[in-house]
Amino acid sequence: MKKIWLSLGILILAIMIIGCGNKGNIQKVESSAVTTTTTASPSAGSTDKYSGLAGKKVLIAYFSYSGNNIITAQTLRAKVGGDVYVIGPAVAYGNDYAAVSAQGRQEVRNGFKPALKNPVPDLSKYDVIFLGSPIWWGSMAPPVATFLSEAKLDGKIIAPFCSHAGFGAANYFDDIAKAAPNAKVIPGVSLDRRGIEGADIINGKGEKLTITAEERSKYPSPDQEFEKWLQNIKL
Ligand SMILES: Cc1cc2nc3c(=O)[nH]c(=O)nc-3n(C[C@H](O)[C@H](O)[C@H](O)COP(=O)(O)O)c2cc1C
Repeated sequence: MKKIWLSLGILILAIMIIGCGNKGNIQKVESSAVTTTTTASPSAGSTDKYSGLAGKKVLIAYFSYSGNNIITAQTLRAKVGGDVYVIGPAVAYGNDYAAVSAQGRQEVRNGFKPALKNPVPDLSKYDVIFLGSPIWWGSMAPPVATFLSEAKLDGKIIAPFCSHAGFGAANYFDDIAKAAPNAKVIPGVSLDRRGIEGADIINGKGEKLTITAEERSKYPSPDQEFEKWLQNIKL
């Protein structure tokens, strides 16, 4: 009898492990107050490397749900330096990717702007705001919409970047311009997540997909795309 229960227990455990697999386990990103650059930081670059940005004070503000924009924001910061503000909702999105996908659809459609965890920083000392978001249902993720509605962006330069699953930036750049009519929004850069080394590639069902290095090499890397973009920025 004992053996039967033991076998049954092992069977249930096995089903649980296989069933759970990688499904929808998202590493959440905590929002933060502004992180300032120190010259000692090896990961911070400088705007002086780019003639169009030389001498400009920059803030990199971004939201990331599944982590891809942490990677892209770090790549960008290694090039231009500046301060970082992680945009995060007061109520974090859940771990169930499929559920968040559905929630995000409603929120984007309704123009929902969730409260932010940390107040938007004083932007008076910055010239250029690099603004990063994952593409959610063809536009910015809702916390980024909140950032745009709360930030004092008049006269600022907004340089947008985003990552997506293959459908491009869609309305992201236009929607930023609509939300910040008195800012100058320069043409942005959009990154296919398949080109981002270490990116989470999760489908609508919440299943994590793996991608070979060979397949990744078919897509431009953030490093290449940012470099090209930054070299060409003229303000
Ligand atoms: C709610 C939701 C909606 C999404 N909508 C789109 C979309 O419209 N187009 C697209 O190409 N990718 C879409 N994606 C995929 C993300 O843009 C992509 O995985 C991105 O790299 C995630 O960045 P992050 O890891 O920084 O959150 C969506 C993802 C989620 C969670």
